[in-house]
Order: sequence, then structure tokens, then C-alpha cells
Amino acid sequence: MEQSLKNLEQEGLKAIHGCTSIETLREVELEYFGRKDGKLTNIMKGLKDLSNEEKPKIGQLSNAVKGVLEKALAAKLQAFENEKLQKELSSDFFDTTIPGKARTVGHIHPIAQVQEEVERIFSQMGFAVMDGPEIESEYYNFEGLNIPADHPARDMQDTFFVAGKNDEKYGRMVLRTHTSPVQVRTMEKYGAPLRVIVPGRVFRYEATDASHDSTFNQVEGLLIDKDISLSHLKGVMAEFLTRLFGKPVKVRFRPGYFPFVEPGVELDFSCLLCAGKGCRVCKHSGWVEFMGAGMVHENVLKAGGIDSKKYQGWAFGFGLTRLVMMRYGIDDIRLLTSGELRFLRQF
Ligand code: DAH
Repeated sequence: MEQSLKNLEQEGLKAIHGCTSIETLREVELEYFGRKDGKLTNIMKGLKDLSNEEKPKIGQLSNAVKGVLEKALAAKLQAFENEKLQKELSSDFFDTTIPGKARTVGHIHPIAQVQEEVERIFSQMGFAVMDGPEIESEYYNFEGLNIPADHPARDMQDTFFVAGKNDEKYGRMVLRTHTSPVQVRTMEKYGAPLRVIVPGRVFRYEATDASHDSTFNQVEGLLIDKDISLSHLKGVMAEFLTRLFGKPVKVRFRPGYFPFVEPGVELDFSCLLCAGKGCRVCKHSGWVEFMGAGMVHENVLKAGGIDSKKYQGWAFGFGLTRLVMMRYGIDDIRLLTSGELRFLRQF
């Protein structure tokens, strides 16, 4: 028995080494390991009929033979496969000078690009960048900003109300109609003095057209300190716009009304296209309307917990979306939130 196993091993190895193709190797494998009638399989099957003395010895030996043959089979198979690969590689012409496939990489949305620039410039002037909730309470969106429930100024901004909660002090929940609510939130949290900007998304319940969308972006600004006047605002905004556009920009105030400021102003900047001479962009006035601003109303300071006898300041709010449109000459606001790649890829 022992001898015949050893012979089987020799015979098997010889057969394996003698193979000339993967197919003949498969045949040899079947001859020895075939489930039904493999030579080695049969011996393994017969183990159970051996005497108790022989069983362990022959068992061990047949396992060893099995191992040797399996290893030889695997090595031979690998050798055949390597040979095949080698052949393929040497017959295949591979042009190493063909350029690779470029990966398409995403990029930053034009609104986010300009927002980053705005943040950078204001940070350089010592302003911190703040954030606030997009789902806001009526209190912060209106009352805290000196717009009581029955005030006609509420009609200036058409509001999306969120179903559910109605708190006694904070009222219902709304999608914030402007970034101004963050003024009161920041005053409450940090007190005076303050120097912040608040870029953010705002929502209005409006019919959309080329210049109106129900979602757009604003940037709020707030500066509270001692002895602050509108001349500081003029200086800050002229500097901001000059840095943003990379050429000298002038600003001017016109009177304007917003409940949360007193006095309130509208700020225009000198038209960059015609340098003030008058063109289509500035409607021949030489000035482009840019934002609302003013000295923070006493009631708003009070809502923010700031002593209006000690501190005063100004606030402003401009449309970031409009700034992006002006900068890139985009004539339809809806493109910016459309997710349209043919549009976005241009920036
Ligand atoms: N919140 C105003 C709006 O959305 C813009 C604005 C005007 C903000 C005057 C201000 C301000 O801070 O002082 O129309």
C-alpha cells in the first residue's frame, strides 16, 4: 500500500510535468482527483476499510501525496497562465504616448465663489463671518427687527410659513425672508462691540421670472461700537467694492426706508461699465443700486440686549445673487439654482 502510494506520487508528478497545455493538465487533475474515479480519490475512499494499525499511517501518507500533487498542479497551471500572459503582452502593441483619460473634476458654484471673495475681503477688514438658521421664527424675522405683526412693512416680503409650531413669544416658523434676523441673534449671543457679516440663503414667496427667484442669497453686515456713524459705512463699502472689482469704486447714499434702521439709506455704486458717464447697465444714471442700509434702530438694539445709550452702529444687506449676476453678466436668475451643467461649467 505504502509503495503503491509512493509510485502514484511519482507517476502523478511525471504526468503533471509532462503536460503541454492547460487542457491536458485538467485531464491529469481529473485522473487523480476526479470525484468519481480519481486514482487518489479512490485510495482516500478506501481508507475506512483498512485495519486500525494501517489507517493512520496510510492516511497521513495519502494526505501528503495529495498535497504534493496539488502543489505541482497549481504551479504548472500558474506557469501556463504566465506563458499566456507573456504571449499576449508581447503581441499586443501598447502605445505609451496616448494621452490618459482626463477625470472630470467638479468646481465651486459661482455664488459660492463670489461669497468666498466677499468673506475674504470683510475678514481682512476685521469682520467675523456668522451663520444663522434658514428656518427662522417670526420673532427674529420680523418683531425683533421692529416689524410688528400689523405693520404694513410685512407686505414688503412675501413669506413662506412652515406648518406646525406656534410659540407665544417666537410666533410661527418661516423660511427667513432675509439675513437680517441674524443681527439680533448675534447681538444676543456676543453683545457689543460687534463686526460681522452674514452670508446666507433666503426665501420669498414670489412668482419667478428672469429677475425673481424664490430662493436667493444675501449678505448682511452689522457693525456696533462706540461713536459709529454712516461715514464709516461709506468708507467700508467703497473699500469693499474697490477690492472686489479691482478698480476704484465710489458709493453714494440715497434716503431709503427699512423698519430696522433709522435713518435708512439705499447705497449705490458708480457704474463700472461707463465710469459714471451713463450706459444701459446703469440706466444712464452713472450709478448702480446696490443695497439697503442704515443706523440700527433703537428697538433692534434693545431686542439684541445692547444699551443704545452706549453703543450704536449700522447694518446693511445686499443681494449676493445679484452681485454674481452683475459680475458675470447673467441675465436670468433662475439659471443659478437650476443645476444646469452647461451653464455651471462656464465658471
Ligand atoms: N433685509 C433687507 C431686505 O432683505 C435688506 C436690508 C436693508 C438689510 C437695510 C439691512 C438694512 O441690514 O439695514 O430687503
